[in-house]
Amino acid sequence: MASTVEIRTPGEAAHALAIKSGKGVIHFFSSTTSAQDNTIPAEDENVVKEILDIDLVRSFQHNIIGGSTVYADDGRVATISEVQATENGFSNGAMEGVEATNSSAQRIASEIPSKASSVGSSKSDRESSLESRDSVSSATTVEQTTVRAVTSDDIYNFVSSIWATLKQRVDREYSPFHYSGPSNAENALFIFGSDVGAFGEVIDAAKSGDAYAKAGVITARLYRPWLGAKLIATIPKSIKKLAVLEQIRRKTTKWGPLLLDLLTTLKSGPGGGVETIVGHQLGYIAPETVPQALRGVFQNLKSEKPIQNLEVGNSEGPAESDESYDPSQPKVESAYMKILNQIFGQRLYLANALGSENVGISAAVAATPEFGFGSLIARKQRRESFVDEIRSSASSKSFSKEANAALAKWAAAAGDDKKVNELADGLTKLLESDGGAKSKDLLSKKELFRKESSWLVGSDAWAYDLGNSGVHHVVASGENVNMLIIDSTPYSERAAADAARRKKDIGLYAMNYGNAYVASVAVYSSYTQVLQAMIEADQFDGPSVVVAYLPYFKEDDSPLTVLQETKKAVDLGYWPLYRWNPQNESKGEPNFSLDSERIKKELKDFLARDNHLTQLMKKHPEFSSSLSQDYGSEVRALQKRKAKDSYAQLLDGLFGAPLTVLFASDNGNAESLAKRLGNRGKARGLKTMVMAMEDYPLEDLPSEENIVILSSTAGQGEFPQNGRAFWEGIKDNTELDLATVNFSIFALGDSHYWPRKQDKHYYNKPGKDLDRVMANLGGKRLAEIGLGDDQDPDGYQTGYANWEPQIWTALGVDKVEGIPEEAPPITNEDIKLASNFLRGTIEEGLKDTSTMAISAPDQQLTKFHGTYMQDDRDLRDERKAAGLEPAYSFMIRCRLPGGVATPKQWIQMDDVSNNFGNETMKLTTRQTFQFHGVIKTKLKSAMQGINQSLMTTIAACGDVNRNVMCSSLPTASKYHRQVFACSAKISTHLLPATTAYHEIWLKDENDKKTQVAGDAVQDYEPLYGPTYLPRKFKITIAIPPHNDTDVYAHDVGLIAIKGKDGNLAGFNLLAGGGMGVTHNNKKTYPRTGSCLGYVSKEDVHIACEKVMLVQRDHGDRKNRKHARLKYTIDDMGVDVFRGKVEELWGKKFQKEQPFKFQSNIDTFGWQKDETGLNHFTFFIENGRIEDTAEFPMKTGLREIAKVHKGEFRLTGNQHLILSNVDDADLPLMKEMMAKYKLDNVQFSGMRLSSSACVAFPTCGLAMAESERYLPELISKLEGVLEENGMRQDSIVMRMTGCPNGCARPWLAEVAFVGKAYGAYNMYLGGGYHGQRLNKLYRSSIKEDEILDIMKPLLKRYSQERTEGERFGDFCIRIGMIKETTEGKTFHDDVAEEESDEE
Ligand SMILES: Cc1cc2nc3c(=O)[nH]c(=O)nc-3n(C[C@H](O)[C@H](O)[C@H](O)COP(=O)(O)O)c2cc1C
Ligand code: SF4
Repeated sequence: MASTVEIRTPGEAAHALAIKSGKGVIHFFSSTTSAQDNTIPAEDENVVKEILDIDLVRSFQHNIIGGSTVYADDGRVATISEVQATENGFSNGAMEGVEATNSSAQRIASEIPSKASSVGSSKSDRESSLESRDSVSSATTVEQTTVRAVTSDDIYNFVSSIWATLKQRVDREYSPFHYSGPSNAENALFIFGSDVGAFGEVIDAAKSGDAYAKAGVITARLYRPWLGAKLIATIPKSIKKLAVLEQIRRKTTKWGPLLLDLLTTLKSGPGGGVETIVGHQLGYIAPETVPQALRGVFQNLKSEKPIQNLEVGNSEGPAESDESYDPSQPKVESAYMKILNQIFGQRLYLANALGSENVGISAAVAATPEFGFGSLIARKQRRESFVDEIRSSASSKSFSKEANAALAKWAAAAGDDKKVNELADGLTKLLESDGGAKSKDLLSKKELFRKESSWLVGSDAWAYDLGNSGVHHVVASGENVNMLIIDSTPYSERAAADAARRKKDIGLYAMNYGNAYVASVAVYSSYTQVLQAMIEADQFDGPSVVVAYLPYFKEDDSPLTVLQETKKAVDLGYWPLYRWNPQNESKGEPNFSLDSERIKKELKDFLARDNHLTQLMKKHPEFSSSLSQDYGSEVRALQKRKAKDSYAQLLDGLFGAPLTVLFASDNGNAESLAKRLGNRGKARGLKTMVMAMEDYPLEDLPSEENIVILSSTAGQGEFPQNGRAFWEGIKDNTELDLATVNFSIFALGDSHYWPRKQDKHYYNKPGKDLDRVMANLGGKRLAEIGLGDDQDPDGYQTGYANWEPQIWTALGVDKVEGIPEEAPPITNEDIKLASNFLRGTIEEGLKDTSTMAISAPDQQLTKFHGTYMQDDRDLRDERKAAGLEPAYSFMIRCRLPGGVATPKQWIQMDDVSNNFGNETMKLTTRQTFQFHGVIKTKLKSAMQGINQSLMTTIAACGDVNRNVMCSSLPTASKYHRQVFACSAKISTHLLPATTAYHEIWLKDENDKKTQVAGDAVQDYEPLYGPTYLPRKFKITIAIPPHNDTDVYAHDVGLIAIKGKDGNLAGFNLLAGGGMGVTHNNKKTYPRTGSCLGYVSKEDVHIACEKVMLVQRDHGDRKNRKHARLKYTIDDMGVDVFRGKVEELWGKKFQKEQPFKFQSNIDTFGWQKDETGLNHFTFFIENGRIEDTAEFPMKTGLREIAKVHKGEFRLTGNQHLILSNVDDADLPLMKEMMAKYKLDNVQFSGMRLSSSACVAFPTCGLAMAESERYLPELISKLEGVLEENGMRQDSIVMRMTGCPNGCARPWLAEVAFVGKAYGAYNMYLGGGYHGQRLNKLYRSSIKEDEILDIMKPLLKRYSQERTEGERFGDFCIRIGMIKETTEGKTFHDDVAEEESDEE
């Protein structure tokens, strides 16, 4: 008869099948039916893992895709991708059966929406592909994939292989149908589910007179597909009558589906001997009533005229207990659960997690803290008696000698957790080989050989009634038990959530108790801090409480929302990150460690007692300002008042009419105009005061005499950030009386920003709205509203030139004489010139700790040193509201010619990101490392860390030659080495000579010796001169047929040409490529480089130098939007430019050499080079290296770097190559890659060919999300790709957050460029290997429109493309978009007609 143990295994097998086949239904029965079952022993974890991909399961469990999951029949057809041999000889095999399942599972994986990364970034789900095969998955080279629907045969194959594994591992046998009972039975029961056990037992125990004696029981292990032939083979020929028991609650047909299946199989073909089949409806049956039910069924079956559809049992089962206290477990807890799993693995014991071994207990009870705590204590006692048992066993004679010795050793070490864990495996093996009864008995409790890490998991619901919750019990008990409490209240909703009930601070409560380890963590803020806290909690001898933050509004919130909420809460001190270990004191260490920057008042008060705060301040003097200040709206109001009053005092000495000038500006236009207006007013004798709208106390408005407001337009007709509070205060205000106020508005906008007719009202909307509201409040216009339009010949200056004189006239100061000449505005050229070769006041700025920012000119200069100041844009609003300066931090970019790094350098870079940055690294589109979130106080240390690893950051940004790129070319390492050497040579040759870099960043404390060679003061720049270049300058090398560095997109592009001897001979030199554009400014455009000719490899660095010098002397230094080499060349003409370079060089370019490109993307997976070394290209989505709960990629790469003997190569597509792996080291590398899931490259061709820039939250220029959004967008398109058989097809898709174009969007086949938050310009028609620019297809469209365009277009492409036709070419052929032939025609013939009507 089926035992309960067996029942559990088919559940897992069914689960595995659903995951493998992409479709499946697991039938669960009401818990009440199995409430009386015996408890089910824990399944062997390794077996479960072997048949079931736990990670994939979790992905499914936590991702609902458009309301459909693999568990339900959503009407979709599950499909299999079959890959035939690839052209490069790496065969994926015709995948059948289990092989096919891998592919299928991966297909499913790719349908799951991507998850957050730093969010980080969000990332695709991973699955190790180790078992499947070595794979080269190039979006360019994988061929001949067919997608077909999963068939019944496939399912049978899948399930058979799962069963075969089970047979082998646990010796239990399964088949689609199972018969038990006498082989000569005449009557049988067909039944499903856990009832099989209960009914079976009663039939077994039947007395000879019972109606059901000697009956057989048949059950289905695989119901769909229905395999009739297998059924016939299963049923003994002796069976004549069959009773079918079906649980059909909501009947829609007269006959149950099972009955119909049986009738079809057994009655309509050669179906064995069954003569009578009678259906019954099975209701709830209590165990004691089973005999009665069976009697009824068999009497009916045996009667001459059996009744069909006889109801057996009650229609309703007993009600589940109604617990008054019903804390539910957070459903998004998986991130923390995964980390617990990762850290503790087999040692983890979750007392009250859903799905744990508390079968038979209602979920509501199992989830309560009391239950969990009780069960942990019971568990602990069980282990204690187990230890006693082992102690006595060690001296008994029931074991082999070795086993005895091992038991004794284990018993001696019983108190030492580490030791017993080490001994556990060996001891288990010995007992297994011992095989005696006593050994078997001990083995049945083998999990107790390890010291478990016991956890109780709960939700923030426990915080409302701490005294009654398990928190109190646990902390008060002093037991060594760990609690993980997940708080999901979003930061933005905290006040509302608290209004009714007071939520207590669990962390504080536990700390006050004194004896508990307490940590406050947030996985979306610091992954490593979570790890650290969990490990410490486990090690702490006593109760531990880890409160973990995971804020969400709805369960399907995107990871981005969770990330943003977390960041705000941590940054503002609502959810501080800290660890509290009361045992530290005895070791002379502080009990409290603060891992974030700000803490809330309650925590501060707690720490203020007992000296903890003083200790903390001593340790982190920089925190004192944030610790000792409470922020709030009152502070902000006070600050405003103070600022304005002191301004007013300043003006007191002046005569003339008062004029208040307010501005709102996102990117500085309105601000600089306002400041200039203020100065001009002063020059005319007016008492002018200039301030941002947000700094102005609104209540003062009625007392103004004259006020002018300059506001630009942001978002979609919105006020810029620093004008919003003012607007919110005034827009519906009816109290303000402006009867005595004269005002005027100047609005800055762009009449084509939202080009569609229906969006025209967004043009200068804020200015127009404000003008209306102020007039309604009684204000008198000094002059009509002025409108500045970016589209006018002089931009907003055109409108402004008309407006300003009207203000002077209205104020009676238009005819003032002797106005002093205005100083021209300070330009970048002035800043460079005055900087003393890039020194400026950077050094002084770094020492000023009153702000985390540096001065505006220094912000320009630090770029030359490889670092930009940024601020976290996710936090701007919150910090503003709290009266804090923006969260300033620095981005640091390395200089890494050719993107080649040693494993040691990799580890050092990893350290830099952990110790000084935001724990993530970005591999950039220009093949280098970039760090974000480095705060000013850590900047110098970070720079030193980078330099200690023999890398530098000098000239990684700024108006100089930047990192020199080189194709990463894993298939030809020898050749790569030669070309790479040239990139390094050019890079060194064009380095700036100033010693400012060393002085500022690398000097040691005594300010005497520098840490890196270069002491000599060398205050001149032989190549650059004091003003360096007009704009940035980029050089790249591509090695045909790979254009993976986008050779056409850089100021200088070098195409490597091989000589007849197979070695590098020289380069075709392209000049004038460039990407940066300004939206709606047709004077700006992207451009592909023009070929100047061929140069030998010996001359190439000199040729590059000369191109750079001609640009230095002829580039436009007045207008930075027109300063790149591309404009110099177009203005001059290619031939004239070439002539100037040759003249300076004294040599001539030779004739361009033939070459051929095939693609500009990477080839993923393993490849061998010509020397026999192996290379693996990892898929690093958008270059973000980070750890997440799902995918510990950063840790994995670090571990690999520790043992890797070759090198790493960063690719121009933001991916990474593990290079130069010897055959002998391959197995180890493969094993490690599989362990960290780094070996998966089975993503859709579109994802593999995609690339996105950083954008939000750090890039100051971003107008829309990019890196955090592109993966999501691709997930939304993958369904269409799949349906149309294009999963493997490479389509180059790129996204950037602004038109600066860091991810080179203009060369993609399809691109999205940020226009405003959530809105993008869409471009089509780029060349597949980066040779042709694309063209604007639609402006300012949002996700729904993007999908509406892309989905049918992709479908059409799949149906109408010609052999080998690329997506970009296709879009042009079918007339979707015109071809862009050169940069100058980029704006011509765009698909979207703009309308000029207002
Ligand atoms: C993200 C973004 C959104 C914009 N949205 C609008 C808009 O809706 N309507 C409009 O007239 N101008 C819009 N503009 C144009 C700006 O208002 C205009 O370029 C202005 O000169 C910028 O001034 P600022 O530097 O002071 O912010 C937008 C600009 C940006 C960058
Ligand atoms: S493209 Fe724009 S948004 Fe993206 S990283 Fe570059 S500057 Fe920032």
